[in-house]
Amino acid sequence: MIQHTNIILVGFMGSGKSTLGKKLANQLGYSFIDLDQEIELHLGMPISELFETRGEDYFREVETQTLKNKLATTTNYVMALGGGTPCFYNNMDMINEKGVSIYLKYNVGILTSRLLHAKTKRPLIANKTKEELELYIQNLLNKREKFYLKSKLVVDGNNITAQQITNLLL
Ligand code: S3P
Repeated sequence: MIQHTNIILVGFMGSGKSTLGKKLANQLGYSFIDLDQEIELHLGMPISELFETRGEDYFREVETQTLKNKLATTTNYVMALGGGTPCFYNNMDMINEKGVSIYLKYNVGILTSRLLHAKTKRPLIANKTKEELELYIQNLLNKREKFYLKSKLVVDGNNITAQQITNLLL
């Protein structure tokens, strides 16, 4: 039996948290929460516009508040976080109090190729060339990974399936 009923997916931008999260939620009969989408719903604007009009600091406040509300009011869910969510305020501690956090780990090369064609919606990387993107990912991952590694489970993101995660949780 699964003892913890909330599952929280952690990982860099482009690591497939939402895609895998939806499948996992389906398989477990849980609801699926996409934190970025919740923020967009709450504020009525895309994250890219939020960054542009209010800046990153404001986004981080809203992100943490939305996370807090969701963690406090929902159960039996799979939640996909934004890539930066674990790295601000004491979010990772809050996350670990409420559920099983799972870090989907990839190396810089794979992240670069995954993100190269999915930049436009992501304000932090929208205008970068491939070389700039790779360097940016390397630097940011260096700063962020210590937070990601506080996750209760760390899995190789390559080829991981919802079924494998379900098996790990059993
Ligand atoms: C961000 C990742 C994005 C989104 C925002 C900031 C980040 O989510 O929250 O653009 O700081 O890494 P995804 O990880 O779903 O792309």
